[in-house]
Amino acid sequence: MRRRTFMGAAGAAAVTLALSGAALAQEAVKIGLILPMTGPFASTGRQIEAAAKLYMQQHGDTVAGKKIQLILKDDTGVADVTKRLAQELIVNDKIAVMAGFGLTPLALAPAPLATQAKVPQVVMAAATATITEASPYIVRTSFTLPQATVPMAEWAAKNDIKKVVTLVSDYGPGIDAEKAFTSAFTAKGGQVENLRVPLANPDFSPFLQKVADAKPDALFVFVPSGIGAQFMKQFVERGLDKSGIKLIGPGDVTDDDILNGMGDVALGAITTHHYSAAHDSPENKSFVEAFKKANNGMRPNFMAVGGYDGMHLIYEGLKKTNGQGGQALIDAMKGMSWTSPRGPVSIDPQTRDIVQNIYVRKVERKDGELYNVEFATIPNVKDPVKAAKSN
Ligand code: DHB
Repeated sequence: MRRRTFMGAAGAAAVTLALSGAALAQEAVKIGLILPMTGPFASTGRQIEAAAKLYMQQHGDTVAGKKIQLILKDDTGVADVTKRLAQELIVNDKIAVMAGFGLTPLALAPAPLATQAKVPQVVMAAATATITEASPYIVRTSFTLPQATVPMAEWAAKNDIKKVVTLVSDYGPGIDAEKAFTSAFTAKGGQVENLRVPLANPDFSPFLQKVADAKPDALFVFVPSGIGAQFMKQFVERGLDKSGIKLIGPGDVTDDDILNGMGDVALGAITTHHYSAAHDSPENKSFVEAFKKANNGMRPNFMAVGGYDGMHLIYEGLKKTNGQGGQALIDAMKGMSWTSPRGPVSIDPQTRDIVQNIYVRKVERKDGELYNVEFATIPNVKDPVKAAKSN
């Protein structure tokens, strides 16, 4: 008899526990974070994961009374894997929002699922202009290549650069950069020759030989984040550092994650981009300090700031919708504005792209380390491809 009573009490406790567990699980808002954590683009995954975790550490894991659960998945940089993981997260985990997406093909693959399931997709890295057109549920906190590149063409034209060779990775963002640079620079009377290098395992040397032969005033380069170090090594091996050809481009090639390891060859490179770890603002100083402290001194790059701001957009969106995902969440995100470590930003309600300052920077040595030091600002730049379409 006593034994049965005891069992009964234990059973009741177990039922209560199971119920509150179920209630909690129902209440939790799940964010699926899909990133390349292994493979050639793992630095992008590492930077964004660190930034998302820092954001949660600083802002807590409860929003609108609901627990936030971050589910990290490694797509290994393969688009079919990104799509399968997105499907599993939507169907099995019932995520409210998916985020991450380290390269253009990885952002495009799950877009039809975002549309079908009405799950907002926050693109924190990939930067081909057309990505946001692949689904009305896509919103972006990174940048677009044309947005970062047109100011480079304008700076070059104003600074006595007449002849340029462009060298870009042969896929979406590289082609965007090539086209945006070529049309803006030739419109100002400049002369351009275009070269494209394969994305996978690039060997730059045959292309660099062509550049040496063409003797342009500047070499315009786009390679995705993390690849700049390989490029720079071959640039030196070909003797181009001593050729007098100026190195210019969007800031991906002088990525903060690897810049300091490039050595003096990077000094003087002029790039245009939305983020530098050296950006002079109180918000950025505290971001860089906290990021380094939480990650063994690793310097945040532009991918990290895309991840950090993506989490901000999700948190603030969920506050507005009281924790609801779906259509309500994507609508809440449109038009949102805030002060990012990169400067003032907003989400364009028409295109769901980020509107932001683009800075002109020069690689300099500062306190013994190499940085992209900003020296001019073009404020509130929209993606020019979509801005031209809407005119
Ligand atoms: C993309 C990837 C990058 O690493 C980068 O720096 C810019 C664009 C992309 O695939 O969209």
